[in-house]
Amino acid sequence: MTYKIGVIGGDGIGPEVIAEAIKIIDATGVSYERTDYDLGAHRYLQDGTVLNDETLEEWRGLDALLLGAVGDPAVGVSAPAGLVERGILLRMRFELDQYINLRPFHLPPTCDFEVIRENTEGTYAGEGGFLRKGTPFEIATQGSVNTRMGVERCIRFAFERAAKTERHHLTLVHKKNVLTFAGDLWQRVFNIVAEEYPNVSTGYDHIDAACIHFVERPERYDVIVTDNLFGDILTDLGGAVAGGVGFAASANLNPARTGPSMFEPVHGTAPDIAGMGLANPSAAIISAGLMLEFLGESEAAAKVAAAMQSPERHTGSTSEIGDAIANEVKAH
Ligand code: IPM
Ligand code: MN
Repeated sequence: MTYKIGVIGGDGIGPEVIAEAIKIIDATGVSYERTDYDLGAHRYLQDGTVLNDETLEEWRGLDALLLGAVGDPAVGVSAPAGLVERGILLRMRFELDQYINLRPFHLPPTCDFEVIRENTEGTYAGEGGFLRKGTPFEIATQGSVNTRMGVERCIRFAFERAAKTERHHLTLVHKKNVLTFAGDLWQRVFNIVAEEYPNVSTGYDHIDAACIHFVERPERYDVIVTDNLFGDILTDLGGAVAGGVGFAASANLNPARTGPSMFEPVHGTAPDIAGMGLANPSAAIISAGLMLEFLGESEAAAKVAAAMQSPERHTGSTSEIGDAIANEVKAH
């Protein structure tokens, strides 16, 4: 099987870490055909391109996408901040229906959990607007969209994951004491789906309390399911407690496989260290491993996971770390 992989290095350290992720895929011997897409803030500033419809259509024919990071504060000077992130990353997640954002945090014995972040709804859906913009009476609203279907498919995915872990434990994280409509829907659907999984023990934490638990007792968690914005914030914290955001990987999954899934590090473009060989490629490499797993290349994925077991062994420049991991993958 030769997989069709779309590669978007993006901006800042994105291309550097993706080069190392590709090195690791090559080391596994998995066969693939690579198409590069020159997209990101640099491209937007060059010729105004964010993401063409034709490119998005082309992606539907791929087996997977591998992305470094996109965005640059320079875009925010002449255009709305985040234009490129929303136009590429969020559009891809929404239109390719990558409704699960799976973010694992494994650093035993400190922590060993994963966050399942809903990836297509919530405050990210773009509902809201301005009234009387620019006047002293201005109003800005930003709604949170929570569909029964969207919440249920995410929670179902989370129960499936928890059913396969050693501890079989799933925690819903929300803020249902204040977000009484969205939180109510999430908890109700959670309880209903839970009945189908009698072997999975369940829990609930408010998002603010979960932040404390992440730092003080991360062993509390096995699988966590949460909404889009809480998941965004919580997974940056997850990275910080699980060895640094340089190790935080993510899989934007379309579990129904009606389109390609996308794999990317949790971190951003880090323009301050771009091009210096200082970026840790581990997050991109672990993301590539998640891609291999999702493609069904379990053996190759296991080799990558084994090579990443003791990440503290890998030191040096971006490419030296990549070389060391590639050698370990080849040795396995
Ligand atoms: C992430 C990023 C994105 C998000 C940004 C770049 C739009 O922070 O993947 O976590 O908020 O989802
Ligand atoms: Mn984020």
